[in-house]
Amino acid sequence: MSIPVLTFFNNKGGVGKTSLIYHLAWMFASLNKRVIIADLDPQANLTASFLDEDRIESIWNSPQPGSTIYQSVKPLTGVGDIAPPIYQEVIPGLYLLPGDVALSSFEDTLSTEWPQSMGDHNLYRPMRILTAFWQALQMAARETSADIILVDIAPNLGAINRSVLLATDFVAIPLGADLCILC
Ligand SMILES: Nc1ncnc2c1ncn2[C@@H]1O[C@H](COP(=O)(O)OP(=O)(O)O)[C@@H](O)[C@H]1O
Ligand SMILES: [Mg+2]
Repeated sequence: MSIPVLTFFNNKGGVGKTSLIYHLAWMFASLNKRVIIADLDPQANLTASFLDEDRIESIWNSPQPGSTIYQSVKPLTGVGDIAPPIYQEVIPGLYLLPGDVALSSFEDTLSTEWPQSMGDHNLYRPMRILTAFWQALQMAARETSADIILVDIAPNLGAINRSVLLATDFVAIPLGADLCILC
């Protein structure tokens, strides 16, 4: 059985996606729900709201297989398999899969495999790449016995986001309250 994935998305930035996930994560934890938070925005703002600078610096400067989501899926760009994600415990029951500026480089791999996945032969590699985020998220959720996975993504319609949406059960679209031009 897969663990439900709730992704916050809007093609517009600055509408409160990251802030909402941050607060919801704490609220779920306070209700005794076990939560995985996955930062799939290469700007990694959500990661910066949970971890201090020294911690982030050590994660990014000494990459290990699985130490960020990017490090989990990176082996797929060669001949390797997904590295089990290493999660950061914020408090017991609340776990973060850290974001990574390097995740942007996975965009090219996904863009290449996307059209191949619609071909009529040898779909094994394209499907492995396109479902990589789903695999990594579910692995982490199983490992931590999570009840829900909350995912933050960047404001664009690129291949990373499309692939995350493939891995998603529910999408929340926060809307910014802009000035009304008719008021
Ligand atoms: N409910 C809110 N009311 C007012 N300001 C907010 C609210 N939620 C977020 N913000 C502020 O809006 C800005 C953008 O929020 P952020 O969560 O980073 O948006 P996004 O992830 O969609 O880019 C931040 O400065 C944040 O502090
Ligand atoms: Mg954000």
